Amino acid sequence: MTTTERLVDVGASQDVPERGRLVVEISTDAGSVTLGIFRFGGRLHAWENRCAHQGGPACQGRIVSRVSERLDDEQRSLGLRFDEDTMHVVCPWHGFEYDVVTGRHPGRPDLALRSLPVSEDGGRIRVAL
Ligand code: FES
Repeated sequence: MTTTERLVDVGASQDVPERGRLVVEISTDAGSVTLGIFRFGGRLHAWENRCAHQGGPACQGRIVSRVSERLDDEQRSLGLRFDEDTMHVVCPWHGFEYDVVTGRHPGRPDLALRSLPVSEDGGRIRVAL
């Protein structure tokens, strides 16, 4: 953390259950910023609520497991399945998906949400701005 950053208490740990999310708006000297805080695998991940496509509220979209296609030895489809080891959030404007752990679009690695440092201590969640 640099000297210009400040820690902001954004809520209680219990506000973000496993596979859950909390969206908060924080006032800053430069205006306000809206964040999405997600918990997956016990860890928190914080992203600016601004889609890399056209600025939509990506963190407020539907939370889904990644969909993958199973193939047989001859590369024929065996159908789609949900991958419970990966959690995505889907931007409600045009459907771009982001991995909540990496913040990246699964098919377009050049597109990602902006991350913010998040920590948890004493049952409170804090974000560095
Ligand atoms: S603004 Fe998010 S998908 Fe277009």
